Order: sequence, then C-alpha cells, then structure tokens
Amino acid sequence: MALLPPFLNGSSRKKRAQVISIDLGSRTTKAVLLERRGESFALTRYAMLEAPIFDKKISPEQLADHFHTISTALQSATKFISVAVGLGDAVVRQVELPQMPVDEMRGIMKMNHKSYLQQDLPNHVFDCFIIPPRAEAAPAKAGDAPRNAGAAFSTKFKVLVAAAKQQLIADFLQAASLAGLTADALVPSVVGPINAFEMALPEVFAKETVALVDIGFKYTSVSVLDRGELATNRVVNIGGNQLTTGLAEMKNISYAEAEGIKIGMASEVEAELQMQVIPLGREIRASLDFFEHQHDRPVSQVYLSGGTARSETIIQMLNSEILTECKTWNPTASLQKTLPGQQAVEIEHVGPQLAVAIGTALAAY
Ligand SMILES: Nc1ncnc2c1ncn2[C@@H]1O[C@H](COP(=O)(O)OP(=O)(O)OP(=O)(O)O)[C@@H](O)[C@H]1O
Ligand SMILES: [Mg+2]
Repeated sequence: MALLPPFLNGSSRKKRAQVISIDLGSRTTKAVLLERRGESFALTRYAMLEAPIFDKKISPEQLADHFHTISTALQSATKFISVAVGLGDAVVRQVELPQMPVDEMRGIMKMNHKSYLQQDLPNHVFDCFIIPPRAEAAPAKAGDAPRNAGAAFSTKFKVLVAAAKQQLIADFLQAASLAGLTADALVPSVVGPINAFEMALPEVFAKETVALVDIGFKYTSVSVLDRGELATNRVVNIGGNQLTTGLAEMKNISYAEAEGIKIGMASEVEAELQMQVIPLGREIRASLDFFEHQHDRPVSQVYLSGGTARSETIIQMLNSEILTECKTWNPTASLQKTLPGQQAVEIEHVGPQLAVAIGTALAAY
C-alpha cells in the first residue's frame, strides 16, 4: 500500500525497471536498489547510512542532500524512489467502509476520519487500500459452512487507511525533486515488513496467525497478521536506544561503550540487558494478548525484524519474556541476489534490518 499524494495516482504509475527504496529510520537510513526480473525481483545493492539528524526536524534541503548521498552509495542511475514514512509520522488503521472507489474513500477519510480513526488529524493526507477478501477454503463436507461465508457478498470492504501530515509529504516531494529524483510512492513504515513478509513467507502469511515485530532505534512496531490480514497494529516507544541507555546507566559506562557491548558481546552483560528487554517484551506480549482476547485465537509465532533483531541474545531474551516462539526472518528470501562482493556476504546479517526498505520497494511496483 502506497501513501500517495493526490497528484501521484497509483493507477497511472509505470512499471519501473529499477526502484530505490529508502527507509528513513530514526537512527539508520536503510536503502535498497531493487530491479525487476520478469515476475520476480533482484536485490542489486543496499546501503546503510547514519540518519542525517535524529533529534529534530530535517529541512527539505538537508533531506535532498541525504537522498543524493544514498543514490551515490547505491551507484544507481535510476531516478525513481520509494520512501518509507517513519513510524512516528504516519497513522495506519484498518477500518470497514461501504463499497466504493478508492478516490471516494480518500474523500470520506478527509471529512470523517475522526469517527473512523478516533483521532483528529488536521492537515493530513489520507490514502486507502482495499484489503482483498480472504480466499476461504471450500467447506470439507456439506453443511460445514465456511467461517465467513458472507464475506464475498458483504456490502463492506476492509480498508487499510494511512494518514500523514500534508507538510511532511510536501517536504519529501520537494526534497526528491531538489535531488533530481522522482518520488513514486510514500509508504507508511508499518506496511514495509508486511509486504516483505508476504513475499518471503507466502504460506505462513496466508494461512497462519503471527506477529510481525520490527524493533528499531526509537520505536517497535507490532502487527498481528491473521491469515493474510492486518488485524492489529501498535507502535511502542521502545527500541535499541532505550536498551543501550539503560545498559549504560546500569554499568555506569558511556553510551558508545554500552552500544559496543550490546552489539559485540551481549552475553557478558546478560543480566543487565535482560532488565532492559523486559519492558519491551511486556509491551509486545500485551499487544498479542489484546488480539488473542478479541479474536479468541492464539498468535503462533513472533517474527522479528529491525536492527535490534540482529541480536540472537536479545531474541532469546524476548522469547522467554513473551512465551511465544520468537525468531528472526529473512526479508530477502525470495529475491534474486546480485549483490557485489562484501555485500553478498554481509546480507545474511543485515537482512532483518532491511525489512522496511524491501517492503517499501515492493509497494512501489
Ligand atoms: N547486532 C546488533 N545487536 C543488537 N542491536 C543492534 C545490532 N545491530 C543494530 N542494532 C541496533 O539496532 C538499532 C537500529 O535499528 P534500525 O535501523 O532498525 O532502527 P531505525 O529504523 O533507525 O529506528 P526506528 O525504526 O525506531 O525509527 C540501534 O539501536 C542498534 O543499536
Ligand atoms: Mg525503523
């Protein structure tokens, strides 16, 4: 699902041969260059850069410089970019709307979003994506009615609504154009891992009830996917930054030192790190409980992505806190890889951190 400004209409978009996708994380910018190869895609190059500014607002000019640095790092001639809108900057919700064209849905959201989203969002741009009805398996025996037999005839659509500040969208577009690039799509970050997951693990996506948890620097996004649908999503204000800060305080060492230990030798500070992971684990557990109570259905697995999910130690700690199997997954699994030397080796470790960038690229195609 792409959050598009009104004059960039999804249906008029071209099928690009190459797309640069940029995930502007609060600490690290992740970018990938994806190339279309018939029906599949190839990951040609990736880049990880320090975020230009991570404690205050960035100007379109600074952002343009950053875009330029990214496109140079990717050694790409393509002008087309797809950008993930940060977890703090976009609102994503699933709602039910009567059947109507998407254009009309956008209008309804603009006027009435308060009653649908329980939130007043002045000066926001809205986009809507109709979630295709679940393809339910035919009943095994006569009289064994499918669970949502009415779905195909339902008068309502399940719709994913995204909203972002008009000014933010305008700034992104201006930055892209200052850098000589074309913004094809602006995609809410939350959607990134979901798109990438559908492509990497299509069977699990379609048939199981799982949680996708992306743990970054400032935020953790928790989405419950129930057999191909986004059932709930929540953004928790805890990420790797909080783990490092807490560790530094407990060990009475500098932030940089604590960061080094967390990444390089987490097992030596196990007790202290575990203390930092507990609140995050509780928040994730609470999101799963919320879904499970509402739907009376267990979440069978927790799939982790984001920079913090690169740590096997942290995954194990979360596992014992959440008590549902936690594991990382590989968002590049179904992509062809044509990466240059060192990147081809490192992708195995970096993969989970690229989930948002890869999913954002897929949304643009
Ligand atoms: N091997 C590792 N072990 C533990 N933590 C790691 C490792 N590698 C990276 N991190 C942590 O990952 C975090 C950055 O992750 P990521 O790039 O996903 O965040 P971001 O997208 O910039 O932030 P956000 O999504 O919150 O806006 C940092 O806090 C860093 O300490
Ligand atoms: Mg992130």
